Amino acid sequence: MCSKIFSSKLKTCFLILLSTSFIGQSDSANDSKKLEIPESAFKCLAELTASGAFFVDNLLGNLDATLAVANSDEGGKYPAGSLVTLVPNEVMIKHLEGWNPGTNDWEFFLLDVSAEGSKIAARGTEEVGNRAGSCYGCHQLARPQWDLVCGVDHGCAALPFTREQIRGVQNSDPRCTTEN
Ligand code: HEC
Repeated sequence: MCSKIFSSKLKTCFLILLSTSFIGQSDSANDSKKLEIPESAFKCLAELTASGAFFVDNLLGNLDATLAVANSDEGGKYPAGSLVTLVPNEVMIKHLEGWNPGTNDWEFFLLDVSAEGSKIAARGTEEVGNRAGSCYGCHQLARPQWDLVCGVDHGCAALPFTREQIRGVQNSDPRCTTEN
């Protein structure tokens, strides 16, 4: 398909093809270790449990184990089923051990959130990102004991937002306006 395109566009075309095949790679993750994730798993932040600046849940009913790691001063390995979120439209979920060792079995989600609920806009491993770049690209900077969770001082570059701005986004989660 690229050969039919005027040569100055060839490089761009090639890059598009390359990134398309890159996205396809998420299928190579081990499916038997993959949790089923219905869109109803993504709730209004106020229904989750706060830990520091972010919120957590556990899709396998193991919230205490998730909180133990999230609230630890020393970090640790989040258990399967852990759901972590800072702002309504960005979520990390931990699949069963061995699903995708490259991301410590975390899957990254970008959501479209509205009063009607959450729709998955993008999901996957190293390739998923937002306008600022790849989720994994930033989160891998967290020191190893933090299991790709950036927190405020785990080694990631700080986001260009103040704590007030982040709290403002958290407090205006459109999903919280409906009774569940
Ligand atoms: C530009 C770097 C960057 C990108 C890109 C990025 N993040 Fe983050 N993320 C951070 C930082 C830094 C924090 C901690 C912010 C804070 O609390 O000060 C964070 C916080 C979070 C948290 C709360 C838990 C934690 O790690 O502190 C989740 C969940 C999260 N991000 C998910 C995502 C997802 C999903 C994507 C992609 C759709 C994404 N992030 C893209 C840097 C990034």
